[in-house]
Amino acid sequence: MITIKSTREIELMREAGKILAEVHERLGEMVKPGVTTWEIDKKGEELIRKHGCIPSFLNYNGYPASICCSVNDEVVHGIPSKKRILKEGDIISLDAGVICKGYHSDAARTWAVGKISPEAQKLIDETKECFFKALAVCTAGHHLNEIGAAVEDHASLFGYGVVRELVGHGIGTSLHEDPEVANFRQHKKGPLLQAGMTLAVEPMINMGTHEVRWCDDNWTVVSKDGSMSAHYENTIVITDGEPEILSLTR
Ligand code: CO
Repeated sequence: MITIKSTREIELMREAGKILAEVHERLGEMVKPGVTTWEIDKKGEELIRKHGCIPSFLNYNGYPASICCSVNDEVVHGIPSKKRILKEGDIISLDAGVICKGYHSDAARTWAVGKISPEAQKLIDETKECFFKALAVCTAGHHLNEIGAAVEDHASLFGYGVVRELVGHGIGTSLHEDPEVANFRQHKKGPLLQAGMTLAVEPMINMGTHEVRWCDDNWTVVSKDGSMSAHYENTIVITDGEPEILSLTR
């Protein structure tokens, strides 16, 4: 069941989103060669708690950290580790979720570690653009499947693979609510988008093929062909006019 949030609920999600946006900005600043993903996770948890929020990923289905840190060919759900030291040329996707006053926000960014290849930078930029192409159809009266079509159409321009095994989602008093938000073209139109729906739209894009596999830790998802992968996600709300991005401040 897709829930329609009240003005009051959206205000609380706006608060959560603002804090999460701030956390991402701070974490982005610390992404540098020599930093471990463990340090990023600790800083992320500290920032989230300092704002009086709860890191929603910690212990979610047993996930052992607050910030998913996925490096290079890791698509999502990389587990922070003291042994994972970032090096020049890496890219890192940071995914974080917060609960503030009972409401969730979920967002991800992919950052460059030092100087990266133009190809890697393009992957990061176009993955973000996939989100904005999707956002353009996130207005009342469009169908849910237009989001995936928009992402796939944009990613295809560059020969990128759109990850299919993981999808975006509704969000609110739970991290994952209905509906599932696929990032690929689907025949079934799905529900009409309506004012008050809150969604986590999150394209996950591989430089190579779309195929992924799960690692032995049962969490880390990597691209099957070893190609780099990027992730960009925001929590948004559908309105009667333009959609509002709740987890982005600038
Ligand atoms: Co999400």
